[in-house]
Amino acid sequence: MNHDRELSRRRFLRRTAEAVVAGAAVSSMSNLAAVAQVGGKRTFKVALIGCGGRGKGALRDHHDAIKYLNEKLGWNLETEVVALADWFANKADGAAEAFGVPKDRCFVGADAYRKAIDAGPDIVLMGQPPAFRPLHFEVAIEAGKHVFFEKPSAVDPPGIRQVIQAGEKAKEQGLSVVAGTQRRHQENYNRQVREIREGARGRIMGGRVAWNAWHFFAKSPVNPASIDDFVGSWKVWVELSGDHICEQHVHNLDIANWFLDAHPISAGGFGGRARRPAGNMYDFFSVDFEYPDGVHIHSMCRQITDCWRWVGEEFTFEKDTPEGYEPQSPDPYAEVGYHKTSKVSEHVHLLHAIVNEKPINEARSVAWATGAAILGRESAYTGQRITWEEMFEDPAKKPEFYDLQLKPTAEDFETGEVTIPEEGVVRIPGVVAK
Ligand SMILES: NC(=O)c1ccc[n+]([C@@H]2O[C@H](COP(=O)([O-])OP(=O)(O)OC[C@H]3O[C@@H](n4cnc5c(N)ncnc54)[C@H](O)[C@@H]3O)[C@@H](O)[C@H]2O)c1
Repeated sequence: MNHDRELSRRRFLRRTAEAVVAGAAVSSMSNLAAVAQVGGKRTFKVALIGCGGRGKGALRDHHDAIKYLNEKLGWNLETEVVALADWFANKADGAAEAFGVPKDRCFVGADAYRKAIDAGPDIVLMGQPPAFRPLHFEVAIEAGKHVFFEKPSAVDPPGIRQVIQAGEKAKEQGLSVVAGTQRRHQENYNRQVREIREGARGRIMGGRVAWNAWHFFAKSPVNPASIDDFVGSWKVWVELSGDHICEQHVHNLDIANWFLDAHPISAGGFGGRARRPAGNMYDFFSVDFEYPDGVHIHSMCRQITDCWRWVGEEFTFEKDTPEGYEPQSPDPYAEVGYHKTSKVSEHVHLLHAIVNEKPINEARSVAWATGAAILGRESAYTGQRITWEEMFEDPAKKPEFYDLQLKPTAEDFETGEVTIPEEGVVRIPGVVAK
């Protein structure tokens, strides 16, 4: 990582950490009070950062998970929303109305996340745009909070390393971290992983994973005239979303990593922008990912209307699972089971882990899945084959990849140093890498 940039990031984080220190001291006491049993009842204090579609969805899922646990295990859990944070006042207010939360618990603007973390939650839910997530996650973990955060976890290599480091810190503190990758909380996927780990299917020989879907974001140029316009249209900007290979296809890349129990060694891919009218993202990618033992996974993703749609994962195994095979290893969630909706199961498993003090931590797995997406994206943007080691591990090998930091960063939004990228200007393979 660029040394100067790293130092200034650390200084910024120290300032941020100082700002939350007072709140952290109070909140760790209130954490204790909140989880202490009072007449068999436990109240979880929750804060939501990013009150858009998915953020509100996550809060609903959290409530449904509480209901599921109370019914299934006879627990007596309750929840209290202590803070709602968003860039925009109308979004935070909308969530307050939807969930019956007093307006004085709403925080807005670039530092709203810090105020929400300061408000004393036990659990922080995150549905903000991906570019902000590494910083918000790091501050939440520093303050001792359990976290549910949406995918993807970052938009660039420094962000990936930041999430992995904060995830390790969460482990040290016994905090639970669950990511919104969904499939890891589905019974059928967990069963397949158990079969694979037990050798019932032999080796994975290769596979393909895809999110080939329609285009449903901005249908015409955004022409952002302000930072608000830029933030409000985050889904069409690489700097905020990470491009759709990160923002959407991360789900399928996570499955490749999970099934193969590894991250890719390298990516060699291509992509382009054929029909997207807004922002600065590509609208299709095709990437060959090489994994250990010579396994190749073909990844495809596209956001173009009226084309072949396929979202899923397929692998070629050395052999078929023997008829009637029953995995011997326990299902990781056997005790609490699965809600019919995987998005709710994510919160069921998070709450179950917190109550039982058996932390689960998905920071690294979602960082690896997002890392694979960034590796594939940069391979397509530059026209180069890039290795995982060059991009995430060895600062000396290819600093142009290791230090690649998309700007404006989350910190820039707080200091106000935001330059809005030019619309329609995309990376050209074979040119940018020189
Ligand atoms: N797991 C899934 O199936 C799934 C589905 C949809 C979206 N997502 C993910 O959820 C995230 C949000 O997506 P969405 O569809 O809800 O988008 P959205 O635009 O509806 O919501 C994002 C919200 O974050 C707010 N925001 C922007 N900058 C912020 C900041 N600095 N601090 C706090 N809030 C800020 C926005 O104003 C907006 O209200 C994305 O990462 C997306 O990939 C996951």
